[in-house]
Amino acid sequence: MSIKRVGIVGSGIMGSGIAESAAGHGFDVVLRSRAKATADGMVAGMEKSLAKQVDKGKLTPEERDAALGRVTAVSDLGELAGCDLVIESVVEDIAVKKHLFSELDRICGEHTILATNTSTLPVVDMAMETGRPDKVCGVHFFNPAPVMSLVEIVRPITASDGTIAAARSFAEACGKTPVEVKDQAGFVVNALLFPYLNNAVRLLEQQVATREDIDAAMKGGCGFPMGPFALLDLVGLDTSLAILDALYAEYRDPNYAAVPLLRRMVSAELFGRKSGKGFYDYRA
Ligand SMILES: NC(=O)c1ccc[n+]([C@@H]2O[C@H](COP(=O)([O-])OP(=O)(O)OC[C@H]3O[C@@H](n4cnc5c(N)ncnc54)[C@H](O)[C@@H]3O)[C@@H](O)[C@H]2O)c1
Repeated sequence: MSIKRVGIVGSGIMGSGIAESAAGHGFDVVLRSRAKATADGMVAGMEKSLAKQVDKGKLTPEERDAALGRVTAVSDLGELAGCDLVIESVVEDIAVKKHLFSELDRICGEHTILATNTSTLPVVDMAMETGRPDKVCGVHFFNPAPVMSLVEIVRPITASDGTIAAARSFAEACGKTPVEVKDQAGFVVNALLFPYLNNAVRLLEQQVATREDIDAAMKGGCGFPMGPFALLDLVGLDTSLAILDALYAEYRDPNYAAVPLLRRMVSAELFGRKSGKGFYDYRA
C-alpha cells in the first residue's frame, strides 16, 4: 500500500523527532498531543531543529518551509481518521498503549496501519486490542530520530507480510535503514544496550569511578560517541527504567534487573535532559 499521510501520537522526545523525519521526507504529518498547546509547541521545536539544519547547509530555507507546511498539530484523536499510517509514541506503559490502540482502531479507516514506537513492550498485545491485528507492527526509531539511521521493524506473529513491507518502505522513504526484528522484548538494540547501561549505574553505585570517568572510559576505550550516563540522560531515566522492567519481566535475567540507584533517581524525578537534571545537570 502507498503511505502518504502519517499520524503521530505523543508529543515527547520521540514523537517530535519522528514527525520531523517524516515531514522532512515528503509525508503529510498529523501530530496529536492531548493538549493543543503541546502539539503547537512541538511544531515550534521542529522549526528550531530544521533552522539548525538550514544553518548547517543540510536543508534549503524552501525545504524547511515545505516540511513545516506538511505538519498539522491537533489535540483530537479523531483527526487521525484519514491517515494511512499512525505511529504511537506515548509513554512506555502497556495499559496506556493498549487503550490507545483500541481507540485508534475505532477511529481510523480500515486500510490504516497502526504502529508502535515501543522500545520493549509486546507488540502483539497492542495488535490484539484491535480488529486488525494483521495491520499492526512496530516501527522503532532511535533517539534523536532525525539523526539516527536505524529503524527496527518489529513483526508480531499476527502481522501480514504486506504490513511489514509497507512499514519497511516508509522507513526507507524517511531516509532510514530498516532492520526486521522479532516481537521479543528489547528487539535487537535495547536487548544488547540495556544490560550495559544498567551495569554502568551499578559501577557508579559501587563507586568504582565517577560518572564523568565512566563516560570518558567508554568513549576513549570503546570509541562510543557518548558515555552511558550521557546516553541515559538523553533517553530519559523514566523511559530507561520502564525498558529495564519490561526486559526483566520477559527474561528474568539479573542483568536486566534495574539497579536501585536508577529506580531512586526516577522516584526523585531526575529524568535526565527532559526534566533538566539526571546524572548531569542541564539547567545552567
Ligand atoms: N527516549 C528514547 O530514547 C526512545 C527511543 C526509542 C523509542 N522510545 C519509545 O518511544 C515512546 C515515547 O518515549 P519518549 O522518550 O518520547 O517519552 P517522553 O516521556 O518524552 O514522552 C511521552 C509522551 O507520552 C505522553 N503520555 C503520557 N501519558 C499518557 C497517556 N496516559 N495517554 C497519552 N499520552 C500520554 C506524554 O504526554 C508525552 O507526550 C516510548 O514507548 C519509548 O519506549 C524512546
